[in-house]
Amino acid sequence: MTLESALKAAREAYAERNPNSKAAYDTAVQVLPGGGTRTTLACEPFPIYIASGKGGEMTDVDGHVYKDFLSDFTSGIYGKSHPALQAAISKALTTGVQFGGHTTSEARFAAGLVARFPSMELVRFCNSGTEANLNAIGAALKHTKRKKVVVFEGAYHGSLLCRFSQNEPEDVPGVLRAPYVSEVSLSVKALLDPITTEIGAILVEPMLGAGGAVPGDPVFLEGLRELATRIGAVLIFDEVQTSRLSPGGRQALLGITPDMTTVGKYFGGGFAFGAFGGKREIMDMFDVRRPNPVSHGGTFNNSALTMVAGATALEQILTPEALSNLNALGDTMRDMLNSGFQTSGAPFKVTGLGSVNQIHCTLANELRNSAHDLLFFGLLERGYWTAQRGTLALNFQNTSEDVEEFVAAVVDAAQAVTVAANGN
Ligand SMILES: Cc1ncc(COP(=O)(O)O)c(C=O)c1O
Repeated sequence: MTLESALKAAREAYAERNPNSKAAYDTAVQVLPGGGTRTTLACEPFPIYIASGKGGEMTDVDGHVYKDFLSDFTSGIYGKSHPALQAAISKALTTGVQFGGHTTSEARFAAGLVARFPSMELVRFCNSGTEANLNAIGAALKHTKRKKVVVFEGAYHGSLLCRFSQNEPEDVPGVLRAPYVSEVSLSVKALLDPITTEIGAILVEPMLGAGGAVPGDPVFLEGLRELATRIGAVLIFDEVQTSRLSPGGRQALLGITPDMTTVGKYFGGGFAFGAFGGKREIMDMFDVRRPNPVSHGGTFNNSALTMVAGATALEQILTPEALSNLNALGDTMRDMLNSGFQTSGAPFKVTGLGSVNQIHCTLANELRNSAHDLLFFGLLERGYWTAQRGTLALNFQNTSEDVEEFVAAVVDAAQAVTVAANGN
């Protein structure tokens, strides 16, 4: 059996097991290009449709139950039905929504964020990580009166700022790509030195998230801090994923303070959310009490539901202790998976930090997608929800027993890949 024939058989078994998802997909493709509205969830021959979720589990429209080890690509840190969030949101629903006005939850939520991130002396809310990054870049360029932004290969800063890889054309005018996790003093410096007076912003993920859970080398990130200061650019840390690594994100773990920070995902307590913040001298441009303030609108920027959910999550759920336990569990899971792969000779390895990880296939390039897909289908069959590309993110509902069982299931499912890859 080859990898391709094993994958074909796995897809057929999947189609057989999921007739209701297939029917839902057939309906969806009539009105949604490709059947969905989130490319990340695309799956051949069709994606699974979810009917409901509770705690750390969800049930699909064919009645299969999955333990969630994807956590909505890091965003679903609370699980499907956290009681504290349910209570706060239900209460907010009874007091009404869509005021077209302020509620006190807005500043309550902002105060919680500012207290955790010293790099955000002032903060503005928006509706996604994409928007947060676009707004932060805009603010940085306005502040420095410069035109160029530096980003890094493999980074993902949102759907309008496409994945920055070497082979893609420049997606956004004025955006320069530099290598990630390299010594700033060498390649990045050589690339940037001739144009340093044009660079207004350096935007970086402290760990590549969608790019494969690749932690940025602390020396590299410190080098960027020094470089930005030296050339007068604004250093922006995109902590949309890495903020969950500690109460103050990866920047707190590394002791590096960027000029601006962007967050999103889980901070919205389950609702669409983004935020960008920074030094007072930068963020002051949005202060309407000043002459010629910069306008920043957004109908749902202060949605009553998001503000309540976000503030509640910060105050009641995202405690330092809870985050520390979750990330320790993630470290344990990564070690267990890596030693399981090593012992069984499976062609996989896991990278990441704390609760944010990614399985990588170590086979030749052209075999990797098939190997990942086969593992993904194997895990679905065993009742685990992950991503085809190998993303693993823990949520507060995952227990250490769950992790042990999950690791055993992954190592077991990986055996099918090893066997097929060896042509047995
Ligand atoms: C590091 C990073 N930045 C930005 C974004 C974009 O966030 P959103 O999907 O909320 O627009 C993502 C989303 O995955 C991300 O991982």
